Amino acid sequence: MTAASVHFETRPLTPKLGASVRGVEIARDLTDDVFADIYRAFLRHQVLVFEPQDLASAAQVAFARRFGEVQVHVMKQYHADGHPELYRLSNLDENGKPNGRHPDKGTLVWHTDGSWARVTGQATIIYGEVVPEIGGETQFADMYGAYERLSPEWKRRLATMRAVHNLDFSRTRRHGEDLMTEAQKRERPPMDHPIVRTHPETGRKCVYLGDHAEWIVGMPYDKGRALIEEINAMIIHPDLVYEHHWTKGELLLWDNRCVLHRATSFDLATQGRVVRRCTVLGEVPQ
Ligand SMILES: [Fe+2]
Repeated sequence: MTAASVHFETRPLTPKLGASVRGVEIARDLTDDVFADIYRAFLRHQVLVFEPQDLASAAQVAFARRFGEVQVHVMKQYHADGHPELYRLSNLDENGKPNGRHPDKGTLVWHTDGSWARVTGQATIIYGEVVPEIGGETQFADMYGAYERLSPEWKRRLATMRAVHNLDFSRTRRHGEDLMTEAQKRERPPMDHPIVRTHPETGRKCVYLGDHAEWIVGMPYDKGRALIEEINAMIIHPDLVYEHHWTKGELLLWDNRCVLHRATSFDLATQGRVVRRCTVLGEVPQ
């Protein structure tokens, strides 16, 4: 099934979420009209996959700025090419050889970008510079669908519940090395958000949780932790997941407000994976 657009062609990747985009070169074609069409497709499909193209770092940042203010990540060691707005994940050493180390193991667990801040992530835009032959996929889970599938009892239970998201918690737990400094922790204190939020543009409800969530407001720590793990498992439905196997030069764009994502593992000693990411700031979740 192909949906025609004035400026490009979108093709759904699954019945529920994700679409491929053909006929747009971001570095060249980004008029106001084209951007307006991209934005509409972004809201409708939640995840967009642009066909392989050359995209310099500066052009990627310029694209991100069309969406809004771009996050400068607190973990400065990841900044790329002199652009503090870009966060590069690479397992290549200075000679371009795989170094056997994963640059951020937190990305292997379902999460939503920037949920640890007061103003959370809106769009994330990732460009694939080097992609592995096997593994290193990016998976997306539909959180509108996850909400719709909650039982009436769960919907009632979660309606007013808030979770505290904490980058230090998730990074320490999942990464184990290169932890946050005291100054970075002070810059990013834990932040609470509703577990069910209303998307500010579509007006649809979605579940907003993932791996940065640590505890639940008003609940003993251990009980809240257990409940977060239970909900995080419950909201991933295989038929509401799109898995993207990368081709070099592709650009992925997704809406952090209504999808969770994670990366799959790959052979870190023999395969290279270099992606550069930009996250646009959205709003305080309501
Ligand atoms: Fe992420």
